[in-house]
Amino acid sequence: MVYTPTLCFSCESGVTDSKRIVLGITGGIAAYKAAELVRLLVKDGVEVRVVMTQAACGFITPATLQALSNKPVFTDMWDARVSDNMAHIELSRGTDLIVVAPATADFLAKLANGLADDLLSTLSIARECPLLVAPAMNRQMWDNKATQRNVAQLARDGVVILGPASGDQACGEVGMGRMLEAQQIFNEINSFLQPKLLAGSNVLITAGPTFEAIDPVRGITNRSSGKMGYAIARAALDAGAKVTLVSGPTNIDVPSAAHVERVESTNEMFTAVKKHANAADIFIGVAAVADYRVEKTSKQKIKKTNRDLNLKLVPNPDILAWVAALPKPPFCVGFAAESQKLHEYADAKRRRKKVPLMVANLAQDAIGADDNEITLLDDSGIQTLPRAPKTVLARQLVAYIAKLYSSDKTRIS
Ligand code: C5P
Repeated sequence: MVYTPTLCFSCESGVTDSKRIVLGITGGIAAYKAAELVRLLVKDGVEVRVVMTQAACGFITPATLQALSNKPVFTDMWDARVSDNMAHIELSRGTDLIVVAPATADFLAKLANGLADDLLSTLSIARECPLLVAPAMNRQMWDNKATQRNVAQLARDGVVILGPASGDQACGEVGMGRMLEAQQIFNEINSFLQPKLLAGSNVLITAGPTFEAIDPVRGITNRSSGKMGYAIARAALDAGAKVTLVSGPTNIDVPSAAHVERVESTNEMFTAVKKHANAADIFIGVAAVADYRVEKTSKQKIKKTNRDLNLKLVPNPDILAWVAALPKPPFCVGFAAESQKLHEYADAKRRRKKVPLMVANLAQDAIGADDNEITLLDDSGIQTLPRAPKTVLARQLVAYIAKLYSSDKTRIS
C-alpha cells in the first residue's frame, strides 16, 4: 500500500514535523513501552492523541500518557469532552496515521473481523489514513493459528504489521511475540511518513570501501565505513524507490528491503553494477572505490625477506564514468572526497565524469564519521548542506536528487 502524505518534505531533521498521529494502546504488559514512544514522537514535533482500551488502563495510567503527550487521553466512546459524542470520528479526522502499540491478540482479532465495540476499534474502522499495528503477546498466542490467520488477513487489508520481535517475554518464556522497542517503532513511523518522492523508480547505489587483495591475507583498502551509502539506500527506500545496493566490506546492517550484492574488489563491484545499470533510473556512486589494484595477486602469502618489495599497481575501471557514458545512462550522482580545494576538485570531477550532480565532502571530516557536511554541485550552482547526521543528510540529498531527476525526465521526454 503506497501512502503519499499531503505535507511537503522539509529538509529539517524533524521530518515528522507537524504530523498528527493517533496512538492506540491495548491491554498488554508492553503498554509501558508506549510511554517512551509518545515521548520520542512528541520530541520530534508530532502531535500525538492517545486512545486507550479499558484493559490498557490496567497496565499504565491515562495520566502518564496525558503528561507525556500534553493532550487529553481518550478511553471511551461516550467521552463528554467531545460535544457530539462522536469521539471516533473526531479523532480519526485529520489524522495522518493511526498506530496501535501494543496490539493484543484480541485487538488484532477484532480488527481482522471488522468488530467495533470500543473507541479504538471503532476509530480504526472509521479511518481514512493508514493503520500500523505492533503486535505484542506471549509466543503461544502469537503462534496460534487464529492469530496468524488474523495477521495475514490484516496484511491483505493493507494494515502494516510492525514486528513482533523474538526474545525474553514477560511471562518468563523466550520466543516470538515481543513488541518492537519504542525507538524501532518510532523509526518505522518516521520512514512510513516520508513523502514517496521516488515511487516507481529503480535506484542503484554503490557503498563502502573496496578491498584489493595483495595475497590471501593482505590487501589495499580505505577507511570508508559505508555509513553514508547505507543511509542513502534507506532514505531512497523510504522515498518509495526500489533499491539495489552494491556494497564493499562493511559492518553495518543492510536495509532489509534493499536488494544487496556484497562485493570485495573494484572489479567485482564493476561486474555487479554492469548487471544492474541498465534497469536503473538513478545511479548513486557513494563507494570509496580504490583507484588502483595490484597487477598480480599472489596465490600464496608473500614471505618476508630483507629486500625491498615492489608491488606493481594498475588502475581500476572508473565505475561512475562508465555508467555515465552509457548510451541511455541513468541519472548519475557522484561523490567526491577531497582533502583540499574541495569545490574546485569536485567540479572538475563532475565535468570529467559527465555527471549532473556531484556531492563533495572533506575526506578528513567524512570518512567513518556519523555526521558530515556536504556540498552539492550541479548546473544550477553550488550549495552546502550544513553539518548534520548522515541519516538526515541522506534524506535531504534524496529529496534533492528526486527534484533534479524529475526535471531531467521532463526535459528528456
Ligand atoms: O575519481 P574519484 O575516485 O575521486 O571519484 C569519486 C566518485 O567516483 C565516487 O562517486 C566514486 O564512487 C566513483 N568512482 C567509481 N569508480 C572508481 C573511482 C571512483 O565509481 N574507480
